[in-house]
Amino acid sequence: MMNPDVSQRMAQDMKPVLFQPKDLKTENNDVFYTVYRNLGAVPELARYDITVIPARKVGQEFSKTFGHYHRGPQSDLYEVLDGHAYFLTQRYENNPADIKEAYIIEAAAGEKAVTPPNFAHLAINIGDKDLVLANWVGFVEYDYETIKKYAGGCYYVLDGGNNIEFEKNPNYKSVPELKKLKQRDIPELGIKNGAEYPIWNLKTPPAGGPKKLDWLAHPEKYQELLTIKNLYEEI
Ligand SMILES: [Fe+2]
Repeated sequence: MMNPDVSQRMAQDMKPVLFQPKDLKTENNDVFYTVYRNLGAVPELARYDITVIPARKVGQEFSKTFGHYHRGPQSDLYEVLDGHAYFLTQRYENNPADIKEAYIIEAAAGEKAVTPPNFAHLAINIGDKDLVLANWVGFVEYDYETIKKYAGGCYYVLDGGNNIEFEKNPNYKSVPELKKLKQRDIPELGIKNGAEYPIWNLKTPPAGGPKKLDWLAHPEKYQELLTIKNLYEEI
């Protein structure tokens, strides 16, 4: 059993991936978000983490996590415990500057979001209070460098006053139109929207256990199930 691990991402650490880094004053270096890793684990398959992203804005941009690709096909399953999230997720084929698919998965408290295999992802706090996320993730190595190289994900999510705006990141060579999605219930994987079905329950049978979490570590075995169309509905 691994020990829990707390890591804080400071505001200045976020500068390389912000829409307008100059809007973050140099003297401003408080905690941008905190990740509590390994709060639980199913050996060989997945671990359980919690992430807390306080509400804030840097200029017009909503607070967010740094974003990463996984160095492998392993997937994540998120749940919003409190607050309101947009998950930006994107995929390339050969060139990381040339994004082939990009989605926003919207989730309010109790709702789930799978980040699909081979997609980068980051979480955005579009609400006015802390965004608290739980996740199960297969044991992965993270690639933060690719996101850093292009100064963030392929869209920036901005507060436009009465609406939320999506600003294409000009550092990418090509960026597709963004589609908005919501997680479907996936009974085969024990995924069900609603706070009465917390993903923590996937740790042990009958709701969970190794069979229900195997797809996180071995998504290649579940390719037919893990398509965008099967996982989400467009909204
Ligand atoms: Fe991830």
